[in-house]
Amino acid sequence: MKLQYALLALFGGALAQDAPHLSHGLDAVADVEPSMVPGAYIVEFEDNEDAGSFYGDLRSQNMEAEPRLDLTYSLFKGCSFQLKNTSDVDVAAQRISEMPKIRKMWPVRIHEIPKDELIWAGNAEAARSSLRKRQEPGNDTFSPHVMTQVDKLRAEGFTGAGIRIGVVDSGVDYNHPALGGCFGEGCLISYGTDLVGDEYNGGNTPVPDPDPLESCGSHGTHVAGIIAAQENELGFTGAAPGVTLGMYRVFGCNGGASDDVLIAAFNRAFEDGSDIITASIGSASGWSESPWAVLAQRIVEAGVPVTIAAGNGGSAGLFYSSTAADGKEVTAVASVDNTETPIILSGATFRAGNGSAESFGWQDGFPSYGNVSLPLWAVSNNTEVEDDACNALPDDTPDLANYMVLIRETWTSCSLFEQAQNLAAKGARYIMVYSSVPDVPIPLNVQSVPEIISIGMVTSEQGAEWVNLLNEGKRVTVDMTEYFRAPAFLDFIPSTARGGLLSEFTSWGPTWEVDLKPQVAAPGGNILSTYPLNLGGYAVESGTSMSCPLTAAAYALVAEARGTLDPSTLERLFSSTASPKVWAEGSRDRLAPVAQQGAGLIQAYDAAYATTILSVASISFNDTDNFVPSANFTIENLGSEEVTYELDHRQAVTMYTFKEGELYPASYPNPIADAYAALEFSESKVTVPAGGSKEITVIPTPPSGLDEKLLPVYSGYITVNGTSGELLSIPYLGVVGSMYAAPSVLDPDWVFVSNWSDFMLPKLVENTVFTIPYPTDPTGEPQINATYPASVIQLNVGTALLRCDLVPHNDSANATAGDVSKVPPIGSIARFPVEFTSRRYFITAFTGMLADGSVAPEGRYSFRVRALKIFGDAAKEEDYEAVETVPFEIVYT
Ligand SMILES: *[C@@H]1O[C@H](CO)[C@@H](O)[C@H](O)[C@H]1NC(C)=O
Ligand SMILES: *[C@@H]1O[C@H](CO)[C@@H](O)[C@H](O)[C@H]1NC(C)=O
Ligand SMILES: *[C@@H]1O[C@H](CO)[C@@H](O)[C@H](O)[C@H]1NC(C)=O
Ligand SMILES: *[C@@H]1O[C@H](CO)[C@@H](O)[C@H](O)[C@H]1NC(C)=O
Ligand SMILES: *[C@@H]1O[C@H](CO)[C@@H](O)[C@H](O)[C@H]1NC(C)=O
Ligand SMILES: *[C@@H]1O[C@H](CO)[C@@H](O)[C@H](O)[C@H]1NC(C)=O
Ligand SMILES: *[C@@H]1O[C@H](CO)[C@@H](O)[C@H](O)[C@H]1NC(C)=O
Ligand SMILES: *[C@@H]1O[C@H](CO)[C@@H](O)[C@H](O)[C@H]1NC(C)=O
Ligand SMILES: *[C@@H]1O[C@H](CO)[C@@H](O)[C@H](O)[C@H]1NC(C)=O
Repeated sequence: MKLQYALLALFGGALAQDAPHLSHGLDAVADVEPSMVPGAYIVEFEDNEDAGSFYGDLRSQNMEAEPRLDLTYSLFKGCSFQLKNTSDVDVAAQRISEMPKIRKMWPVRIHEIPKDELIWAGNAEAARSSLRKRQEPGNDTFSPHVMTQVDKLRAEGFTGAGIRIGVVDSGVDYNHPALGGCFGEGCLISYGTDLVGDEYNGGNTPVPDPDPLESCGSHGTHVAGIIAAQENELGFTGAAPGVTLGMYRVFGCNGGASDDVLIAAFNRAFEDGSDIITASIGSASGWSESPWAVLAQRIVEAGVPVTIAAGNGGSAGLFYSSTAADGKEVTAVASVDNTETPIILSGATFRAGNGSAESFGWQDGFPSYGNVSLPLWAVSNNTEVEDDACNALPDDTPDLANYMVLIRETWTSCSLFEQAQNLAAKGARYIMVYSSVPDVPIPLNVQSVPEIISIGMVTSEQGAEWVNLLNEGKRVTVDMTEYFRAPAFLDFIPSTARGGLLSEFTSWGPTWEVDLKPQVAAPGGNILSTYPLNLGGYAVESGTSMSCPLTAAAYALVAEARGTLDPSTLERLFSSTASPKVWAEGSRDRLAPVAQQGAGLIQAYDAAYATTILSVASISFNDTDNFVPSANFTIENLGSEEVTYELDHRQAVTMYTFKEGELYPASYPNPIADAYAALEFSESKVTVPAGGSKEITVIPTPPSGLDEKLLPVYSGYITVNGTSGELLSIPYLGVVGSMYAAPSVLDPDWVFVSNWSDFMLPKLVENTVFTIPYPTDPTGEPQINATYPASVIQLNVGTALLRCDLVPHNDSANATAGDVSKVPPIGSIARFPVEFTSRRYFITAFTGMLADGSVAPEGRYSFRVRALKIFGDAAKEEDYEAVETVPFEIVYT
């Protein structure tokens, strides 16, 4: 019965949300930090208690509360409410948390809609009328499916039929033909609800209605298509188009989704019989104790797998996992980049010989193309030519005036200007350039050559196709339409940079308590899916929001193939069969850390047919203080023949959390260390009879010679190589050094008193006098035009409890900045304490209001800031770090 965390202040909205730390500048783009709904709380009742008697008690104690949500579910019995009596919100909250009816109480936090990157969205008209596919119908060749072996399960006829996936998101445009075109019984989107309504922003009262239509956003429609899009004009499908989808809308048209709404949505999805629940939502946390993460864990324990996006905070480096993905037993999904980047070009047609018209894609240039129909003429018949049209064309060149002249791009031999001049000398007016590398065609400009009327560009593949047709002696005629009337054309180009490797944006684990996160990875970078019809119908987006639903769909296929939905079985199968990827930075000869990719890229076919089952999905050896000196797992052979397994392990890159001389964790890519753990097995080779199992003990030796203060995180994969042909692995991870002694929870240079209204946040000298209005708002909400003292606090690592107390200074009680005086504080300032927070900063105006609703008398004070160390005991003074600021004085106007 403890207040889980109190209000935390956000200063300057966007600024606080974009940058998790101050001392290294404000340019880091990290995942979103959660904000709070002032005065709003979630309570969980003890058994046999309910909201009716709870609100009755509040009334009888003169505490006015407006109910937010009734949270009466089989896995969670409680409610959320907004305290109305504004004279003593924090006192009231404290009193409520201590009521015997209340098992637990949490303030309501808001999670913003994920910032996924929109790469492309269809032009509304064109997309609907004439986007076309390049592939013929038949096998699933969609690269995210090929990468994850979903194509192989689909080839065997698995579609997830009969499985219900509950999606918690921003709603879905079920009118989209590729999403079934309807909502309700018998439709693809057959169940779900809108828990919030359009006007909801996270902070105000949700207004539910039964219709989960995505009326203003786009996120949920993209997510739903990744799972279950039906055959469509772009020639792709979702990974499990046979499933039934439920949509639980938790975002209004603006703002985020609050914890209580997410808890309600997860409970509803569970109680409506979802077999799998997925959410591409989260905020930086690193603690599994948030109410939403706790509920997600309960759902998994009740038998329903939960997949949640790992987060898009990759740039923030290690220890940046997000809630509720960091819930225990929740499958947190990381992202790898697609091996093929979908690109959208203008569409036109060509005809070779007497053949029928075929579509192709092109990028218009300057000057642009109009409506023309022209025969193609290539300067060179060699598709590898390096200096195409770099010299004057031969004398026997025909008059090029009525041809579309095809040339290969060259950036080294001569300029486009020279090429165009050489062509113009032979009368050319229309040019089409093809790329020399597999890359996106770009708008070319030849306006400096007045003879040229039009120029465009096509892919290297398209150029080669044409040259080869011409070489076969065929006449090729191209029919162009002005680009603004041209339909869109979808093409795919190989992703050479990071295709198949971990996406830069994917958030890193582990949690502060060294729980292994994320669990697995799936394609999330450059993913084509459905989009609301009024926004174009289709879009390409990047984020763990995209890899998460693909994983949920793969769970459905494997569940269908194996006939089990047991979350632990599925997690272990996906983990053991996943394919670990190499580290995308540097020489690419070592595996990427487990803290970035978990078990690796999921392999659905192998998961569906594995006959060897490992008893654990992953192993955390914890930190040095809590080192796990040995771990056990069993190998179970479900096959019909005896199998001999060889045990070994593969090292992944060891990575430092901190840079030398810095106290805030390093941003991606972190400094790496050339030292690895050694693992010893009780047996290096075991033979397991058909239907039998065998226990293995692993003895780890963490890497030596590392700088423990920089908290190196080592990891790798135990490999289990069976004579059955199965090659399985178990990801492991550990920390060298002490999480408890992490260099500094509180940044010594960034805990100070400043002037709240000064954007530069100067560090103030002793005894600055602030003349401020007498406080009336119990939440500590400052008046915008007043000059308050501000407490500036930067956390270098997460903390389970952060306090900011007010210490009086008078003649009998002096304190020096930096040291902590012996003087007892008079109380916590309003908006503190804060529980279970990620590394981030807080800039909080002190209005004179204390957390207990009383007002500090005029006088001299300092802030005493205390943060509980990781694995510390909240009851032990020595388990806190503390910093006391210089004194300042407050006078009321
Ligand atoms: C607010 O709370 C105080 C103290 O609990 C009580 O005296 C007062 O009547 C309450 N006011 C309202 C409007 O509920
Ligand atoms: C589909 O894939 C199978 C196996 O890879 C192959 O034999 C078959 O020819 C393919 N069919 C089409 C239409 O591409
Ligand atoms: C293509 O068309 C030409 C002229 O109309 C005709 O002579 C030729 O036989 C046709 N070729 C084929 C393969 O149909
Ligand atoms: C390409 O052109 C060269 C000369 O310009 C000629 O020798 C060669 O046979 C041609 N190749 C084809 C495939 O047409
Ligand atoms: C690491 O050890 C601490 C202290 O015993 C424990 O609270 C925590 O859960 C452990 N972490 C893991 C992943 O087991
Ligand atoms: C592992 O198994 C061995 C043998 O059964 C046992 O002695 C040991 O206690 C087990 N270790 C753990 C960490 O469970
Ligand atoms: C697995 O074992 C087989 C022999 O059974 C061996 O040929 C193969 O190279 C091993 N694979 C790996 C990755 O160690
Ligand atoms: C500050 O704003 C409040 C209302 O928000 C107003 O009453 C007060 O006069 C203002 N003070 C100054 C100094 O502008
Ligand atoms: C506090 O500081 C003042 C001025 O620096 C000094 O006169 C006084 O003796 C100090 N009091 C204590 C208790 O140290």
